[in-house]
Amino acid sequence: MPIRTIIEPFRIKSVEPIRWTTRAEREQLLRAAYGNVFLLPADDVLIDLLTDSGTGAMSTFQWGAVMEGDESYAGSRSYIRFRDSIQDIFGYRHVIPTHQGRAAERILFNVMCKKGDVVPSNTHFDTTRANVEFVGAEAVDLLPPEGKQPSLVAPFKGNMEVAALENLIQRVGRERVPLVMLTITNNSGGGQPVSMANARAVSAVCRRQGIPFYFDACRFAENSYFIKLREPGYENKTPKQIAREMFQLGDGCTMSAKKDGMANIGGFLCTNDDALAQQEKDLLILTEGYPTYGGLAGRDLEAIAVGIQEALQEDYLKYRIASTAYLGNHISEQGVPIVQPPGGHAIYLDARAFLPHIPPHQFPGVALACELYLEGGIRAVEIGSLMFGKAATMDLVRLAIPRRVYTQSHIDYVIEVILEVWRQRERIHGLRLTYEAPFLRHFTARLEPVADRAEGAAE
Ligand SMILES: Cc1ncc(COP(=O)(O)O)c(C=O)c1O
Repeated sequence: MPIRTIIEPFRIKSVEPIRWTTRAEREQLLRAAYGNVFLLPADDVLIDLLTDSGTGAMSTFQWGAVMEGDESYAGSRSYIRFRDSIQDIFGYRHVIPTHQGRAAERILFNVMCKKGDVVPSNTHFDTTRANVEFVGAEAVDLLPPEGKQPSLVAPFKGNMEVAALENLIQRVGRERVPLVMLTITNNSGGGQPVSMANARAVSAVCRRQGIPFYFDACRFAENSYFIKLREPGYENKTPKQIAREMFQLGDGCTMSAKKDGMANIGGFLCTNDDALAQQEKDLLILTEGYPTYGGLAGRDLEAIAVGIQEALQEDYLKYRIASTAYLGNHISEQGVPIVQPPGGHAIYLDARAFLPHIPPHQFPGVALACELYLEGGIRAVEIGSLMFGKAATMDLVRLAIPRRVYTQSHIDYVIEVILEVWRQRERIHGLRLTYEAPFLRHFTARLEPVADRAEGAAE
């Protein structure tokens, strides 16, 4: 019989101890953090699933490359390696390094957008939206209805609704749409993938209308692997062939190398447009650095040059996608409500369905995140009423899986903790705010438990 067990495709050379705490200690720590897991010291977290961004483990090849970093201010050898490695996958003429994804976004939207413009996407990530809005343009999400139903199982719930894109362009006028973005995979939409057919259709609309088409490519490797698994005609292609085919459909991209760049810091901006690239480099020099380092050290460029190729290795992607699904499937089999199907980089618990007795204004997602910490020292993040206020249509808790960091037994532990919290869900209370900042309040908010369930019901 063929061997079916999927194992971590690495062995561990250097270990980082994690620290156990008692429940009594965690209660005290969470009180000191005002019920906000962002305010916890990381050393007091046993399994940290706050984000998959910049939290991955680098390979021996990346660490070896780090030692070869050329720290020359201009024309560094490390930049040449970085550029060549990225062009090998993405194929774009200009590769501009930045310190992380949002810096690439800021430069792109500053150069391409003006007040009154409209930028469509499948779903803008929050920094993307904020950077579009910062230049006075409007960020519009065009997710099809199936992408908005958490429990629905469909292969490409991250797609953009193409008819809605055409309608939007017709309604506002082509001249007000300076570019179209497609986020692969769709992070804010539950880590769901975008199909090649959908990218092709979006590209065709853009070409017909003469509108530049850009990818937010943070998780392009995971997206490529989902296409290989789920889209007919791609089963025999390599993830790299799939990625190349997809990027050929566009005119450029923004990228946070903290995700599928397998690095702890870094990003880049690509374009095929010479005039635009010049303006982007001018802006880069103003705030990020010279165009051959863009705010990164030569060693960071080396780590990304190697990491971005490793992210496309098939044995890695097989393990990556399978291990995320392993967590999702094991808890959903026991009735725990999650966004279906499991995404590439994270599992999202549906906190409104998990804790139906806690109304949205008492932050069911925060209550659930607190409980995961109290029960097992696990840190996750609320994506819901605390993060988005009244605009939140869902209350989710995201369990993001850092790349190559945790083993299957860590994930088995996470499953056990979630199931224990699920069993005791009825005794969990909601929370109320005691402090909030005027914007991005979730990072610094302070909360306290409400004593009784009816409290605040009239709010
Ligand atoms: C889809 C998406 N776009 C952009 C970004 C921004 O990247 P960075 O955090 O490197 O600025 C992120 C980060 O989480 C993301 O998930």
